[in-house]
Order: sequence, then C-alpha cells, then structure tokens
Amino acid sequence: MTKPTKTLPRLFDFDKMPRRATISNGLTGQDILSVKQFDRERLAYIFGRAHEMREMVERVGACDLLYGHVLACLFYEPSTRTSASFIAAMDRLGGRVIPITQGVQFSSVAKGESLPDTIRTLEQYSDVIVLRHPDIGSAQVAADYAGVPVINAGDGSGEHPTQALLDLFTIQQELGQIDGLKVAMVGDLLNGRTVHSLTQLLLQYDVSLRFVSPESLRLPMVLMNELIDRGRKVRETHDVADVIENADVLYVTRVQKERFSDLSKYEEVKDAFEITPELMRQAKAKMVVMHPLPRVGEIHYAVDSDPRAAYFRQVKNGMYIRMALLAAVLGKA
Ligand code: ASP
Ligand code: CP
Repeated sequence: MTKPTKTLPRLFDFDKMPRRATISNGLTGQDILSVKQFDRERLAYIFGRAHEMREMVERVGACDLLYGHVLACLFYEPSTRTSASFIAAMDRLGGRVIPITQGVQFSSVAKGESLPDTIRTLEQYSDVIVLRHPDIGSAQVAADYAGVPVINAGDGSGEHPTQALLDLFTIQQELGQIDGLKVAMVGDLLNGRTVHSLTQLLLQYDVSLRFVSPESLRLPMVLMNELIDRGRKVRETHDVADVIENADVLYVTRVQKERFSDLSKYEEVKDAFEITPELMRQAKAKMVVMHPLPRVGEIHYAVDSDPRAAYFRQVKNGMYIRMALLAAVLGKA
C-alpha cells in the first residue's frame, strides 16, 4: 500500500534541469526495506536523479525541494555516514530532521519503550522515518506500524539497501559500466549487511562474483543458494591474492565485531585481511577499491593516495543517492 505524501509549494524548479531519466519512479510513499524492491529501471531512475542532485549541489549548494518535510532519523546502532548523509541530504533539499542518532539511550527507548511505540510516536511529527536497528527484520516491523514511509538504514546483519544503491552507483561512476565486471567481495561476508544487499543487487547484472573470507565468515547459505539458483558459479577463496589480479572491483569489509557472541572467535579472524600498496601492485591499472566504512585495519592508510581507492568518493555518493531516494519517496519526482 502506498502511504500518503503531501504536496507543498516548490520554490526551486528541478524541471528546468536536463532529465537523464524520465520514467516514473513508483517509489512515492513506499517503504525502502530491501534491494529486492529495485529492478534495473528503478535503479536507472534513482541514479539519474542522484546525478541531478550532484549538479544541483555543485551549482547552488541547496534547494527547497523538500521544504516543509520532516525526516525522523532513528538509530539504535552507531553510525557516522548513514546518519550524517541522510541529515545532509535533507538539509540540502530544504527539509528538516529530528535526529535520534546520538544514541537511543537518550530517548525513551532507555525507559523500555518498544520499537512500535517509538515509531508510532515519531510518525506524528515526520513525513519519513530512517531506521537503523540491530535486529534482522526490524525495518519491516517498523514499516508495519508506520503510516509514513520507513527507510531501512541497516537491520542487524540483514540488509543495508541504501548503502548498496550508493555502492552500485559508485561502481558505475568509477568504471562507466556494471555489466561485464568482475567483483570480489572481501571480509565478513557472513555478517556484513552491505555485502548481502550489494550481492543481491549485482545479481541483476552480468557480473562475475568472487567471495574472499575466512572459513567462519563465508557468505550465508541462503544467499549462496540464490546465486546458484540464478545460474551463477559461486567462487570462494580465503586469499585476496587469488582474486586481485583480475578484479575490477575489490569490495572490502570490516569484520563485524558487534555480531560475535564469543569475542575470542572475533579475535581469531579480525586481522584476516589487509589491502596494502604491495597487494595493489598486482591489481589492474583500471579497477576500484571500495569499502562501506568504517575500516578498522582492512585497508592500509597508504592505499588512500592510490587513485583506485574510491571509498571516500563512495561516501560522497551516499549523500546524492539519499537525496534522490528522499525526493522519490516524498513524491518529488
Ligand atoms: N557501515 C556499514 C554498516 O553499518 C558497514 C560496517 O559497519 O562495517 O553496515
Ligand atoms: N557505511 C555505513 O553505513 O557507515 P555508518 O555505519 O557510519 O553509517
């Protein structure tokens, strides 16, 4: 069901900007819970709008497309990029934010308030809610209770759909295409929600996928089976050296310490990988190293000056993608 959106006066005319994508987005009033909601057409629409957002920001910095709209940002887990980029996105589009991002311990969650009641409260003040929560499926629960759209900013080790959108957008920006690429995912493939979302999105493209992880952090079986059912060969290894020469995209991730109930198991694998300048010497001249961030040792700081290190450009793309998504969800197509 489409949730209601409101129409307010527009003071900045996006229609005067050249349009790269003209199809209707179908996202107005929708929750954004999973990458499964995005087919190639919808991705092209969001990427086209993200380009427009970049142009707008580079030309004038901000506009009033979302003037009068309020976003509630509710984060039960730590965040720098996702929370800050949603806030910046709303700022740049002239909207306002209720930020519950500095720790829910300062909200009534600390008094024992449930997720449904918290959501039913925030929807009284806002037009859209962005939620990060440690439980898989929590965004769906929130969406079931909310009368306004809910955007999943990470539900435990489940999904992180807006990250996957910005990851895919970055690949396209950096390499000019997605079809035909060899993508290697490195790190905690079991718990990394960004890996889960990006892998599913990439299944819509003609890419070959390689998975590099310690034995205990292999891609979840359900995703493996999905790859196999879709006719993909699942290629796994424990060693980055096996994939780096051929990779067009090296997508590196952090071992997700917060998902380990036994910290000694985390200690065993936490230093499994480090991308170093020496390793980068084996990589193609035209490839990209990406990381959803934060990094805690998986990429040596000396790699940052390598032009192939795309992770901070990736961060910036997050703001444009989230601007595009907010505009789409709030009916400003
Ligand atoms: N920031 C990403 C996430 O929240 C990746 C990470 O934390 O390692 O999933
Ligand atoms: N990539 C990402 O989600 O970063 P944060 O955890 O800092 O939001």
